Amino acid sequence: MVGIVQLERRDVDYEVRQAAGNVDLGYLLLPEAWGRGYATEACDAALSWLAGALPGEAVVLVTQSANAPSMRLAARLGFVEVERFEAYDAEQWFGRWTPPTATG
Ligand SMILES: CC(C)(COP(=O)(O)OP(=O)(O)OC[C@H]1O[C@@H](n2cnc3c(N)ncnc32)[C@H](O)[C@@H]1OP(=O)(O)O)[C@@H](O)C(=O)NCCC(=O)NCCS
Repeated sequence: MVGIVQLERRDVDYEVRQAAGNVDLGYLLLPEAWGRGYATEACDAALSWLAGALPGEAVVLVTQSANAPSMRLAARLGFVEVERFEAYDAEQWFGRWTPPTATG
């Protein structure tokens, strides 16, 4: 095992997040597994699975905007920014992913 990718349904905490969706994507790899594309591949697989299991379900994620690898991963996966906010003494990036439609 080199890390975890999780999709978790959460009770969201405020209006903007409620509107965006309440399935959260989380990811964490051991440092020795960074830089090989494993997180992208694993998250893509999880999102593809979700698109089949719960068609139309949006996914959200929160990451510190200073976390450059995490921000690049979110962008590669197709997450788009909804807003930024301050929490835990840092700027947080809140993004949303929507599944591809049949028409693309
Ligand atoms: C966030 C995290 C999972 C990103 O890990 P990562 O290794 O950068 O992401 P990937 O596994 O998708 O690998 C992509 C990188 O591998 C590179 N790479 C090398 N060989 C590759 C290959 N064969 N295929 C794909 N990518 C490859 C890519 O170019 C990319 O590097 P870049 O971002 O410098 O351009 C990792 O930094 C982490 O676990 N951090 C701690 C936990 C954390 O911060 N989680 C977020 C909190 S919400």
